[in-house]
Amino acid sequence: MSPFLRRAAPLAVAAGLLASATAVLHAQAGTTTKPATAASDAASIERGRYIARIGGCNDCHTPGYAPSGGKVDEKDWLVGDRLGWQGPWGTTYPGNLRLVLSKMSEDDWVRVAKSAQYRPPMPWFALHDMTEADLRAFHRFVRHLGPAGEPAPAYLPPGQAANGPVIAFPSPPKH
Ligand code: HEC
Repeated sequence: MSPFLRRAAPLAVAAGLLASATAVLHAQAGTTTKPATAASDAASIERGRYIARIGGCNDCHTPGYAPSGGKVDEKDWLVGDRLGWQGPWGTTYPGNLRLVLSKMSEDDWVRVAKSAQYRPPMPWFALHDMTEADLRAFHRFVRHLGPAGEPAPAYLPPGQAANGPVIAFPSPPKH
């Protein structure tokens, strides 16, 4: 992990918006969903829907979700956003999870979610803390929604101007 990310990750938590979402996920880390049988599929999808809602995923990965107070139709959830997040790490865009997960098996997703370290402000550490059952439920819910939308804009390195709106983070204080 680059010093950049190590320094920038606490910033994301400081955004507050994340802090509450992560706390909820931590609180739930001990719970499990039912085993992966066809009969438990509906419950699993419902659990995935719940995670998208309270885990903060919609806040960043669904256009207009936070500004509208969560009033976005479910068919438009998690398609990624053209609103960039800019800081010392460059400019990042919340990916289109509908497309990304449609190309990833459930097992691959569990492996990726348990190990990936994305750039800020993505709270990748919250994915590491999610139970395997919750990760599987999230995957099932997103697959249930099906692929939709366009890929999010590509990452831009520091110093490269963004071609659209961005949320700009200040540089972290020097210690
Ligand atoms: C504060 C905003 C924010 C929140 C909250 C958030 N994300 Fe993200 N997410 C991002 C950004 C920005 C990126 C792009 C990071 C990068 O470019 O490295 C990203 C990237 C990702 C990726 C990689 C996408 C790809 O293209 O491969 C996955 C998977 C992901 N997020 C899942 C989630 C899930 C699941 C949740 C809810 C538990 C969540 N995110 C919550 C902002 C957020």
